[in-house]
Amino acid sequence: MNQQVEKSMPYDVEKIRQDFPILDQKVRDKQLVYLDNAATSQKPKSVIDSIVHYYETDNANIHRGVHTLSERATLSYENSRKKVQQFLNAGSEKEIVFTRGATEAINLVANAVRELVTVGDEILITAMEHHSNIVPWQMLCEKTGATLRVAPINKQGELIFEEFEALISEKVKFAAISHMSNALGTINPIKKMIDLLHRYEIPVLVDGAQAIPHIAVDVTALDCEFYVFSGHKLYAPTGIGALYGKMEQLEQMAPYQGGGDMISVVTFDKTVYNRVPYKFEAGTPNIAGTIGLGAAIDYVNGIGIEAIAEHENQLLNYAVEQSKKIDRLKMIGTAKNKGAIMSFVLDGIHPHDIGTMMDHQGIAVRAGHHCAMPVMDFFGVPATARASFAMYNTFQEVDALMDGIENLIEMFG
Ligand code: ALA
Repeated sequence: MNQQVEKSMPYDVEKIRQDFPILDQKVRDKQLVYLDNAATSQKPKSVIDSIVHYYETDNANIHRGVHTLSERATLSYENSRKKVQQFLNAGSEKEIVFTRGATEAINLVANAVRELVTVGDEILITAMEHHSNIVPWQMLCEKTGATLRVAPINKQGELIFEEFEALISEKVKFAAISHMSNALGTINPIKKMIDLLHRYEIPVLVDGAQAIPHIAVDVTALDCEFYVFSGHKLYAPTGIGALYGKMEQLEQMAPYQGGGDMISVVTFDKTVYNRVPYKFEAGTPNIAGTIGLGAAIDYVNGIGIEAIAEHENQLLNYAVEQSKKIDRLKMIGTAKNKGAIMSFVLDGIHPHDIGTMMDHQGIAVRAGHHCAMPVMDFFGVPATARASFAMYNTFQEVDALMDGIENLIEMFG
């Protein structure tokens, strides 16, 4: 291990690890090395405690009751909205809609955009999108007769900016672009992309599911119309996420689902919808998850997203350097600007075998297409193995990953 590099780490990682109870366990008689953070990150005790506290002391439905528990639950729920607003630097907490995750947020927007699109129109995405930022737009195109345009990537997994630019025209009615690729780690120049799209008055949705735990996001500076993310990659529980939307956009959009809480008056003749953001939050929401998300944001803020990014980048750089010593390893995704994701293949060994054999050594990596089949097609591989780093990973764990890869190469011969 590189002692010099470790000394320059921005915080005491061992102290942070103590906040994550799940990390202290053995898997198959080996110390767990959890490197599947891009799929979902682990949860600090403060997040777990916030959920337990809610159920033990405050559990009640929100926005409805006049009793104390309901008031407490509503306050905590709305406090989390404020925390998300501040985390994203949105202008108002009313611009934050809670959703099940990034996927539901994208579907919500695609559903509303459907009404504005017709035959001959185009929707623009990039070739590195997750399925959740492809399929809703394909569904929209099927329904409306619009065409999906895909901006290509190069062999490093970077957007080819000139080709992206060439696809922009008056026909494009909406663009949906990933901030950071979950399969490759590529970080897109989204500010530049948004500015260019705005020259044609094209509204932009940014899929921040992968970026949110690694990059400080400022939606006001980005000036995007929409930004979506999932809580579970940000150390929060599963089943909760958020949609940021500019108020003028949200005001114009039709509700996504009908039900309780999204209305102000209902008669059998007509329903008057509630104001934004409640218009988009039909039914009893994931109250506990929302409170957990607020606690996760507090935790991340306590360490600092820049410090987390610096730590993860050091791990990634170290892992990339070490991986060069393994002849049979080919990195998939070598963008100059990339986050802490290492997708790779090993000559002659199927990625699923890599995943299984790594697990036998106590190391959790993901093997598969990472919900990005077009990316796999582009690189001509059925799948990759993917190690992804979080704030609590260590250089020793990178060493364990490299030793694990060497061991399995030896086993497979
Ligand atoms: N989108 C998640 C991943 O990248 C599940 O693994």
